Amino acid sequence: MKKTTAKANINIALCKYWGKADSVNVYPTTTSISFTLDKFYTITSIESQSNQQQHTIIINNQQANELDTLKVARFLDYFTDNEKVCVRSTNFVPTKAGLASSASAYASIAKAANQYFDKGYSDEVLAKVTRFGSGSASRSIFPNFVKWTANTDNIEMIDAPMMDIGMFVLMIDEKSKKIASTQAMELSKNTSWIYDHWVERANKQAIDMEQAIINNDFHKVGEIAQDSAMSMHMTMMSSTPSIVYFQPKTIEIMHQLLLLQQTSNQLYFTMDAGPNIKVLIEHKNKEKIYKQLKEICKGIEIIYSQPAKGAIIIE
Ligand code: PMV
Repeated sequence: MKKTTAKANINIALCKYWGKADSVNVYPTTTSISFTLDKFYTITSIESQSNQQQHTIIINNQQANELDTLKVARFLDYFTDNEKVCVRSTNFVPTKAGLASSASAYASIAKAANQYFDKGYSDEVLAKVTRFGSGSASRSIFPNFVKWTANTDNIEMIDAPMMDIGMFVLMIDEKSKKIASTQAMELSKNTSWIYDHWVERANKQAIDMEQAIINNDFHKVGEIAQDSAMSMHMTMMSSTPSIVYFQPKTIEIMHQLLLLQQTSNQLYFTMDAGPNIKVLIEHKNKEKIYKQLKEICKGIEIIYSQPAKGAIIIE
């Protein structure tokens, strides 16, 4: 039996991708910048199988539903036009809860498929292919800070050393979200009255973010990251119908974080298409901030994570 196994981590965008300028070619409206997190990942194995009628897709030890099977099978078309295989993906991250499980999932499938089908794509090319599985997944191919430039398929590492940062993920709700990011971003693009303003602002911010990363300027990175997340959520809320991923607990904790931010000036937060909050800090302040977060996050799991590698073959 032939088998290849790959691992990919989720990535968290400091500058957000929220909408496609070209949905056929998957070109984003905004330049996004992210880094991967070590505690959340997907492991995917691709194995040969006797059934040559169709691919078998197993997610978290269960046969995938029809839609996910179709999506993964379509993605595999970028790697093979004949052999049908068995894909087993296990998410070590809550699935579809705005924690970018699709990013680690598709990056790990791409990495495994590249090896299994002997495609020999470089990471640069593999990232371009990966965006057809999930846009944000393309950024999980690389380590360090990764930039996906607006209106293009250019996905590359930023030429700067990784900063000594960490992220507390506040697990407010692990349930699957009600509206998938693909549909939600399309709705924002088509109906939000602030969408064009957001795109213009986001693309300026990405330039400042890259410079802040190069300058190793934690506070500038944090300020822009928080603004980017809040602005993205504003485009969601101003959509018709409104998209609200926040839950009452999200707002409650956000108020507390803003207070902490004013008093200590040592943390910033970001959010994705879900209710969970991610708190960006300098690693040296980990213990102190963990204690403060425990006070305001009673009953909520707090997971600390640090920058991770890109996608790798493990077997
Ligand atoms: O890659 P998608 O289609 O799941 O979009 C994810 C978009 C956000 O996570 C909300 C932002 C980002 O840049 O990762």
